[in-house]
Amino acid sequence: MEASTEHFKPESYKTARAFCLTSAVWFPLATSMAMLAAGYLIAPDFMANVGFLVFSRIRPMHVNAVLFGFVTPALLGAAFYLVPKLCRTELYSQKLGLWSVVIWNVAVAAGLLGISMGHTQGREYAELIWPVDMLVVIAFVLVFINLIMTVRKRKEPILYVSIWYALGAVVLTGATYCIGNVIWKPNVGALLGIPDAIILWFYGHNVFGLLLTPLSLAVAYYVIPIATRNPIYSHTLSLVGFWGLLVVYTHIGTHHLLQVPVPTWLKVIAIVDSVGMVIPVMVFLINIWYTARGKLGEIHADIGAKFVFTGTIFYFFVSIQGSMMSLPDVQRITHFNNWVVGHAHVGVLGFAGMVALGGLYFILPRITGKPLYSRFLADLQYWLILLGVIGFTVVLTIAGLIQGNAWMNGETIYRVLPEIHIYYVLRAAIGMLIMLSAYLGFYNVFRTLFFNPGGRSR
Ligand code: HEM
Ligand code: HEM
Repeated sequence: MEASTEHFKPESYKTARAFCLTSAVWFPLATSMAMLAAGYLIAPDFMANVGFLVFSRIRPMHVNAVLFGFVTPALLGAAFYLVPKLCRTELYSQKLGLWSVVIWNVAVAAGLLGISMGHTQGREYAELIWPVDMLVVIAFVLVFINLIMTVRKRKEPILYVSIWYALGAVVLTGATYCIGNVIWKPNVGALLGIPDAIILWFYGHNVFGLLLTPLSLAVAYYVIPIATRNPIYSHTLSLVGFWGLLVVYTHIGTHHLLQVPVPTWLKVIAIVDSVGMVIPVMVFLINIWYTARGKLGEIHADIGAKFVFTGTIFYFFVSIQGSMMSLPDVQRITHFNNWVVGHAHVGVLGFAGMVALGGLYFILPRITGKPLYSRFLADLQYWLILLGVIGFTVVLTIAGLIQGNAWMNGETIYRVLPEIHIYYVLRAAIGMLIMLSAYLGFYNVFRTLFFNPGGRSR
């Protein structure tokens, strides 16, 4: 696998650079929105007169901004770097790539603006209205054409597993995005009743399982062998993990609906396959951790690999936690409360966000031909996010357990809210660390891309 900057040609990386910049811009914006959302949970009347920023709007704005503004673009930036590298060829079309970045950004900006003005489909993770959905689908189609055409003209006969994961993510998400957003009904973007809930959570879970997860695994499979200078432990295992993920992950969306009157057989499939997720998850982790065995020093020395490796540890945590949360007895306590919000942040920030930032910092020197503007700032960002995710997990899990037990004991909500108030304050305080890290990250990425005299520190 080739990864150095020796054949550096700036024009080969325009799309990757543009996706990196996209991610760096949306991360601080998304966390700023998050701080407003966190503020509302402490003091519900805070900014009560600002209609376009009320909680019901700022919350989905935050969630869409992190998913489609911050995490996915960084992972796509890495994919636009690693797919051509692994194919030993140039990207099929930088022009097409830049168009996909432009459409992507217009979609995110229009989607968030729309939500702030009250234009929403009102379905979690599928809030964006139909015209914006169309932009998202077009962006996915352009990305797919670009990557598949790159693969077609490859000089390397072997398709390394990262390519499988990257292409799989784009194809499957493009398809499930259309289904989940019910794009054949432009006026409502929804079905009726229970079928709508089922189809929504089929898609909702696929956002994590078939978009963020495979793109993150593609990055991890690329970065860790290079950083450790070890070949991948097992190619066979990597493919077992890939097909395992596809077979199992696609069936588990209904674990979001265990407390809902959906058909029992569907719940059983969701629960069994959620527990079965242990197989593809552990196959990946064994493979990647064995690859890194004895090379933690090298991982520590490379800031990109450090982010990615930490992300794999959170992947372990969030997946084992997720399998447990799919059991009805456990979910009786954890559902409908802050436990799930804790799990969501471990998954989307601790795992996918960490790996995305790792991919970004790993490729930045390679796509600019210079060291990072500041290794110190990247390290600081790493520690702030690590503290932030761990802090969120502890605080939100405790708050969730208080809420879940109160629910079981039949306590009324107004008695429980004062008990968890302090945890909301702590969450906001910890959130400041993450928001700060996002602004520092933006500065570092911006300077690395545009005003980098050659790197201040390594
Ligand atoms: C084996 C893997 C996993 C399993 C079995 C699993 C299971 C679950 C379950 C059962 C829920 C619903 C909890 C409830 O509503 O009571 C949930 C929620 C969630 N999961 Fe996971 N999870 C897994 C991995 C992940 C990963 C890797 C991510 C992120 C990349 C993630 C992100 C989320 C998010 C964001 C939610 C909140 C959804 C909402 O808005 O309600 N999960 N997960
Ligand atoms: C400044 C740091 C952050 C703060 C203060 C924060 C706060 C919040 C708040 C208040 C919510 C709504 C929870 C609720 O409805 O009870 C939320 C939801 C969510 N946030 Fe964040 N967040 C931050 C950063 C992030 C980041 C960086 C990511 C991902 C990379 C992220 C991913 C999510 C997701 C996926 C949800 C939906 C959770 C669910 O529905 O279960 N957040 N966040």
